Amino acid sequence: MIEAIRKRRSIRAYKPKAVEEEKIREILKAAMFSPTAWDTRAWEFILVKDPKTRKALSEATPYASYVKDAPVVIVICYDNQKGRRFKEDASICAEHIHLEAVNQGLGSCFTQVADSEGPHGNAEAYVKEVLGIPDTYRVQCMMPIGYPAVELPEHSDSEYDEEKIHYERF
Ligand SMILES: Cc1cc2nc3c(=O)[nH]c(=O)nc-3n(C[C@H](O)[C@H](O)[C@H](O)COP(=O)(O)O)c2cc1C
Repeated sequence: MIEAIRKRRSIRAYKPKAVEEEKIREILKAAMFSPTAWDTRAWEFILVKDPKTRKALSEATPYASYVKDAPVVIVICYDNQKGRRFKEDASICAEHIHLEAVNQGLGSCFTQVADSEGPHGNAEAYVKEVLGIPDTYRVQCMMPIGYPAVELPEHSDSEYDEEKIHYERF
């Protein structure tokens, strides 16, 4: 597991090569194996491949431009009437997606949507409009998925920082 964690980097450049359906399925399984508060499993996923829609999504915030280049984008929606810990459940789910993508030789990047503004105004309202997501749902982030077109260094032991750790009391 630590190997995938070391390898996991935010990948923002993707090869145009299509991602195999089996790999997407494994990534979605990893998403659905993620823990949720009260086991509500309130997430739902929109898989976007259409280039026009990807382009629209890439305009949600000033920090999402690479989303248009990923062959598949997984948008994590959350039924806010069903679940009670939107941010936590959706973010943990996103990390499962990210790590299984690495395990499948793919790259991804947590792309913030909630609490963000972009050229079209509130990013979450915009993404919901673009994808026809019902009012009662929330959107924390999008996870673009593709074969990495860049090679970034793995995380290394030099990032381990004893000063961050407190023993018994702060
Ligand atoms: C909550 C959260 C929101 C993020 N939002 C964005 C984003 O909108 N756009 C982006 O390019 N990267 C985003 N990132 C990725 C971070 O910039 C990245 O994780 C950080 O720079 C560390 O790099 P690494 O993931 O390669 O280790 C986000 C990461 C987190 C955890």
